[in-house]
Amino acid sequence: MSDTALLTVRDLAIRIRGAQRNLVEEVSFSVAPGETLCLVGESGCGKSLTALALMGLLASPPLEIAEGAAEFEGQDLLTLPRTERAKLSGNRMAMIFQEPMSALNPAIRIGEQIAESVRRHQGLGHREAEARALEMLRRVRIPAPEKRLREFPHQLSGGMRQRAMIAMALANDPALIIADEPTTALDVTIQAQILDLMRALRDEAGTALIMITHDLGVVAEMADKVAVMYAGRVVEAGPMAEIFANPQHPYTIGLMSSMPSFGARTERLVTIPGMVPPIATMAPGCRFASRCPFRAAQCAQVPPLTALDGHSVACWRAPLERLEEPA
Ligand SMILES: Nc1ncnc2c1ncn2[C@@H]1O[C@H](COP(=O)(O)OP(=O)(O)OP(=O)(O)O)[C@@H](O)[C@H]1O
Ligand SMILES: [Mg+2]
Repeated sequence: MSDTALLTVRDLAIRIRGAQRNLVEEVSFSVAPGETLCLVGESGCGKSLTALALMGLLASPPLEIAEGAAEFEGQDLLTLPRTERAKLSGNRMAMIFQEPMSALNPAIRIGEQIAESVRRHQGLGHREAEARALEMLRRVRIPAPEKRLREFPHQLSGGMRQRAMIAMALANDPALIIADEPTTALDVTIQAQILDLMRALRDEAGTALIMITHDLGVVAEMADKVAVMYAGRVVEAGPMAEIFANPQHPYTIGLMSSMPSFGARTERLVTIPGMVPPIATMAPGCRFASRCPFRAAQCAQVPPLTALDGHSVACWRAPLERLEEPA
């Protein structure tokens, strides 16, 4: 992990209080200013829980952080008192959700929501805050921004609402944005526009971005670094180009071979036989073993994330080149 990291997560573990198995465990990564890290994996692998834990938004109880640290600008996000936490959220760090209505208040006009956030965090006056709201709607390229400012969320189209949520997330110039499947609910054309917009805004402001997606097409377009998650653990991580050129975990290889092309963003990555089994009932050892064509006796032990060819992989059998293709 680099010294220049903006956020460094170490050994994050999340569990349901009293449960035997952690839902998320030993998750470590870092992200530097201007850098984009993609968290990738199938449904249920713990991507959203990881994001929510960092934002202080875990449904607690029943969920709790069992272990770990997340250092952000010199503070540990995971142990921050509630009041300190509240100062960061929507300010130094902001989250973009798949469903904009989970971030927008349906009863408050768009402009007022953005202005309120700016007033709260930057102490701007009424006028200035409203001017900032208008500027933000322009920056996310919402047409007729003066008119949209005075509208309620339901009066906007899905793509426009997504832009409004991005405007709100960016209004206080956050150092870090966490985006959880921000384009999954949108049609392909709008998806592409939103991704372009996010990339442009990230590059303009030098914002660090953690992008959560199940879509390798999005990863190819956005990521500098990738962490592939399976059933709550990171199974492979490293620079995006390296992971795409030289995937080593059987799960990553399966994800990639299930992509018809990196351009096709609409399909869910579910062509690896089987599904992620419920974490509570998993056998000890490698969590992917029940679906893995390469499993062997040693997979009854959890494989540690180990450096290999410029990235890291958690598989006893890597490198896989020398193994025979399974029948
Ligand atoms: N509030 C909760 N109580 C109990 N279990 C939960 C809760 N929230 C999530 N889980 C479980 O934690 C695991 C990880 O869930 P998470 O939402 O992080 O997955 P995800 O990778 O974001 O999936 P998706 O791609 O579907 O969004 C799942 O097995 C899920 O059932
Ligand atoms: Mg999720």
